[in-house]
This record gives sequence, C-alpha cells and structure tokens, in this order.
Amino acid sequence: MTLRTILAAALLIVHGGAFADGKALFAKNCAACHQASGKGIPGAFPALAGSKFVQGPSADVAAVLLKGRGGMPDFSPTLADADIAEVLSYVRSAWGNQAPALTEREVSALRDTLKVEQFAAGQMSNKH
Ligand code: HEC
Repeated sequence: MTLRTILAAALLIVHGGAFADGKALFAKNCAACHQASGKGIPGAFPALAGSKFVQGPSADVAAVLLKGRGGMPDFSPTLADADIAEVLSYVRSAWGNQAPALTEREVSALRDTLKVEQFAAGQMSNKH
C-alpha cells in the first residue's frame, strides 16, 4: 500500500465517523420516547412529526436538546455537536417535516451562548 492509499483510507474512516446517520442517532437516543414514527405518545411524549415547534427556529429546537426540558433529558454531555446537528436535521426533515438542516457550527455557537457543558468525547462522566 502506498502512503497515499493509507491516507485516503484513514480520511474515509474519519469522515465516515464524523457524519453519523441521523436516523440511527434518533433510533438510539430519541425513539424510546418519541417513537420511530415521530408521533410520540399522547399525554407523555410530544409528537415531533408535524410539530410547528420542531420546524421553527433551529436554535429553539437545539436548545431543548442542549438544556433538556421537563421530562426530556439534557443531551449536552452525551451527544457531540455534530450528532445534535445530524439528529435534528433528520427530525426536521422526516415524517413529512420540512425545515432546513442544522450545521455543527450552529450547535457549537449555541452551546457557547447557553454556556452548557461541553461534550467530552472519550471521557467518562464522573457525575453519576
Ligand atoms: C426520556 C424520554 C425522552 C427522550 C429519550 C427524548 N425526549 Fe424529547 N421530549 C420528551 C418530553 C417529555 C418532552 C416534553 C418536554 C416538556 O416540554 O416538558 C420532549 C420534548 C422534545 C422537543 C420539543 C417538542 C415541542 O413541540 O415542544 C423536541 C424537539 C424533542 N423532545 C426532541 C428530542 C430528540 C431529538 C431526542 C433525541 C436526541 C429526544 N427528544 C429524546 C421526552 C424525551
């Protein structure tokens, strides 16, 4: 293998990891409550499918994930900015929703504005 081939392979791995699949992220982190259908469970978990809020200003939607709200957990320590952008881009375009995607940069800026905990990749939280 030439150095060039090795570099190309390494780039592919890094690239693939940085762009996690929004649908898979949703299935893993959100579907237990909001359901794979995005319809939630009436009276317990709000529907994201067809929600005006979800399709509204992206910063408001991302703030719910970064700060948590009511019975909804705070994802700031467990999801990286890229993952939050990816999962919300999925939520805003799945099930007939039609709102623009979010970028990692937007989520990072919001994290700074809200002064919430930074995601620490590879570090175990000792808070629990
Ligand atoms: C443990 C259950 C649970 C999980 C897991 C969960 N949520 Fe929620 N979510 C809730 C509850 C309960 C609310 C309503 C919070 C409130 O307003 O009191 C909510 C609210 C929301 C809202 C605001 C909806 C609105 O119309 O106001 C969004 C957006 C949202 N969740 C997205 C997500 C995403 C994306 C994930 C995965 C990364 C996720 N949630 C994971 C329980 C959950």
